[in-house]
Amino acid sequence: MSKNKVQIFDTTLRDGEQVPGCKLNTEEKIVIAERLDILGVDIIEAGFPISSPGDFNSVVQISKIVKNATVCGLTRANEKDIDAAAEALKYAIKPRIHTGIGTSESHIKYKFKSTPEKIIERAKEAVKYAKKYVEDVEFYAEDAGRTDNEYLARVCEEVIKSGATVLNIPDTTGYCLPEEYGAKMKYLMENVRGIENVILSCHCHNDLGLATANSIAGAQNGARQIECTINGIGERAGNTALEEVVMIMKQHPYLDLVTGINTKLLYSTSKMVQQHMGLVVQPNKAVIGDNAFAHSSGIHQDGVIKNRKTYEIMDPEEVGVNESSIVLTARSGRAALAYRAKNLGYELTKIQLDIVYPEFLRFADVRKEIQNDDIHEIIQTTKVFANNVEA
Ligand code: KIV
Ligand code: ZN
Repeated sequence: MSKNKVQIFDTTLRDGEQVPGCKLNTEEKIVIAERLDILGVDIIEAGFPISSPGDFNSVVQISKIVKNATVCGLTRANEKDIDAAAEALKYAIKPRIHTGIGTSESHIKYKFKSTPEKIIERAKEAVKYAKKYVEDVEFYAEDAGRTDNEYLARVCEEVIKSGATVLNIPDTTGYCLPEEYGAKMKYLMENVRGIENVILSCHCHNDLGLATANSIAGAQNGARQIECTINGIGERAGNTALEEVVMIMKQHPYLDLVTGINTKLLYSTSKMVQQHMGLVVQPNKAVIGDNAFAHSSGIHQDGVIKNRKTYEIMDPEEVGVNESSIVLTARSGRAALAYRAKNLGYELTKIQLDIVYPEFLRFADVRKEIQNDDIHEIIQTTKVFANNVEA
């Protein structure tokens, strides 16, 4: 694997599916898993097998059909969970068990009523136990974002010695700032013995809207796996959005970070997940939202019509959107109106445009958006062609 390849670990079917009201049945999960495999994700977290018979069965079925990606199952740090995950993953060509435990002071004290030393023991035991079943074992240090770096480094070192192949450093509560999360990764890269033999992974939540920025900061500081979901869905404010981190790495080549994602499938994959989950993303959602390539202000429209690079940093076709759209509203200028009219077969001269534009504004003031039918009506109302008004 290239030194700069960042593996994309998709957890739409596990962390993403934890969104209230977004339960998917096994058939829907299979369809999404097939699509994720075609999209080019490296790892599909298919579920949490011990959590329910339905989830167990989904992991079994997904393991049977995924051809390229590693299929992963989540567990807590106990034998029963790990047994269930190993059983559910037995048909996978490339199985991975994802086990772990909370490492922050509050998790150790309140959740486990335990001590830091005992938590390290449980972490080691869980990794060793998972290793009996599969070679590929990922360890998560839950709430690593709020875990003291020195202690986190000790946990990491011990689980590497026990056989972990990937170390997941979740910002479970979405609390970290990008500098802080990046510095955490740097600290681990510099202070954990054996780190060169494993992959560090970013798993960021979006409680403060920083999941994407934190994941990129993590990758800039040595992480080579990003855990994310389609449309950024997930627990509370969601997880890192797959489409965002992938396009950031693509649009900023100097970062020297690459993924294996076929970006032309991002838009259709996003729509597919929205439909199955019944969860529609906001129109201004980065990369795949309905307005991501729509221009509505007159100044912007004029620029885009002259050269789309004036106001677009990525080609919509790169993410599978056919073309940018010029939305006609009361904020639109003459250039946009002339452009749309031309597409509808009306070549407006300057004089005709001077007549049509005020009528367009009158319409636009009462409608939110001007559609093609409205343009026909406006042009007919002004009679600029009937009267043979020419420049
Ligand atoms: O956010 C988190 O800490 C998680 C772990 C279970 C990996 O989802
Ligand atoms: Zn999570």
